[in-house]
Amino acid sequence: MKILVTGAKGQLGNKIEQVLGKIHDLVLTDYDNMDITDIEAVRQVVSTEKPHYIIHAAAYTKVDKAEEEIELCRKINSLGTKNIATVAKEFGAHLIYISTDFVFDGLNSTKNGPRNKPYKETDIAKPISIYGLTKYEGEEFIRKICDKHYIIRVAWLFGELPKDQTGLNKGTNFVEIMLRLAKERSQEKDIEKAVLKVVDDQIGSPTYTGDLVNVLAKIISETPEYGTYHFSGTDESSWHDFAKEIFKQTGTKANLKPVSSKEYPQKAKRPSYSHLDKTKIESALKIKVRSWKKMLEEYIKGR
Ligand SMILES: NC(=O)c1ccc[n+]([C@@H]2O[C@H](COP(=O)([O-])OP(=O)(O)OC[C@H]3O[C@@H](n4cnc5c(N)ncnc54)[C@H](OP(=O)(O)O)[C@@H]3O)[C@@H](O)[C@H]2O)c1
Repeated sequence: MKILVTGAKGQLGNKIEQVLGKIHDLVLTDYDNMDITDIEAVRQVVSTEKPHYIIHAAAYTKVDKAEEEIELCRKINSLGTKNIATVAKEFGAHLIYISTDFVFDGLNSTKNGPRNKPYKETDIAKPISIYGLTKYEGEEFIRKICDKHYIIRVAWLFGELPKDQTGLNKGTNFVEIMLRLAKERSQEKDIEKAVLKVVDDQIGSPTYTGDLVNVLAKIISETPEYGTYHFSGTDESSWHDFAKEIFKQTGTKANLKPVSSKEYPQKAKRPSYSHLDKTKIESALKIKVRSWKKMLEEYIKGR
């Protein structure tokens, strides 16, 4: 099967190359050889390559910076995705779009306060950040333009990072950020500055790129019903729980302290609850999703 990947030099693209590259003919594209905001560039590559599938993983992913770079974020996530959907439709390719739990607001619609029930695909999206909004606009373009689509909403993604020319990690993820901060803070003499504060009132579920790529492989080989699916690790977690488990599994000493979102203000709002319900994907692909802690173990073992 010929598969064109957008955002191939990103975190997920890197894992797609490692895993799907062994079983499929991949056309790897990124900003430098196919800018998704340029529809003629997209048309030119797709018309030459004629892929059976397009995995659209390219995105503007700087959640906080997006609150300032609104137009750039919308150009990439919303209009770039419209371009991909338009060209996928023109050339009859199946389209898989990677979306996000940040399309939800995390609030309980009937009572005041945070939600506590995992989000199903039928729940109404109400993004509260520019990143979440533009990813949702991308979803809507796909639903309107390209009938042969899969929209896979994932959450808190971590996985092996691509390397730059000097062999260093390109980009980062929460696991790597926590391990770097723990190392830096352990050298702090000032006790106050040595503390690592992580929010404990945003609840979700981390996802390993390896598990996600296995799901993508199954979708490609089995073509289940088109539509929107949720995928992430099972079991709920706060960012603080996630950090604690990272330090436990790596045997890292850290002076970790839970704080509320109010005590740790960020430019972009995040949903206080965004755990995704995986019933639909489990039944469509006949899989049993594993816990995020097991996913983390595999990542830690391989790094
Ligand atoms: N990371 C998460 O926690 C998370 C959570 C939920 C969903 N997702 C979604 O999962 C997907 C993969 O995420 P990721 O972590 O792999 O992101 P990533 O590491 O930031 O990779 C995104 C890639 O897209 C490229 N890109 C940006 N603008 C482009 C353009 N105009 N044309 C072509 N390529 C462009 C980036 O290139 P440059 O680096 O050169 O800009 C980068 O290589 C994204 O769609 C994201 O929205 C991520």
